[in-house]
Amino acid sequence: MTDERVTQLPTPVWRRDFPYEAASEEEVTRREFARYLVLGAGTIAVANVGIAVWTQLRTINTGEPRALVALTDVAIGEPFLFRYPNKNDPAILVRLADREVVAFSQKCTHLGCVVYFEAGQDRWHCPCHEGNFEARTGRVISGPPTRPLGRIDVEIRDDGQIWALGKPQ
Ligand code: FES
Repeated sequence: MTDERVTQLPTPVWRRDFPYEAASEEEVTRREFARYLVLGAGTIAVANVGIAVWTQLRTINTGEPRALVALTDVAIGEPFLFRYPNKNDPAILVRLADREVVAFSQKCTHLGCVVYFEAGQDRWHCPCHEGNFEARTGRVISGPPTRPLGRIDVEIRDDGQIWALGKPQ
């Protein structure tokens, strides 16, 4: 004859402290759990790609026209840092010749590091992964970036100021 008694295990301490029970808590299989993980990771990956695409496609040439700095305050071959179109958008201009000025977003188009002007090399340089861009056009010369720097249209006006032109009228 077999022993028909069922041994009652004591309630674990954690169950007493957190007495939450769900009717289906025993029904989540390992396969379903893995599916949730894959779905969650996939959703995060898609969101990241979307943010990256939005960042890449966003043009920075959309601010209001605004005076940036007096031409006489920028020496030839010297950069000038400013924010455009918003205070969160670092930008940089350089006076290449007496009446020639170019300006770009300071964010590298690879992974967003800050670019610097290298006067001796006549280029913009990103130290993060050795990306290089042409001084006048912002076109990629070498390194991992595939897109040119975001250009900000500027002009020297009769008031002696360098102006960001903003949106085309
Ligand atoms: S972030 Fe500029 S080259 Fe990678």
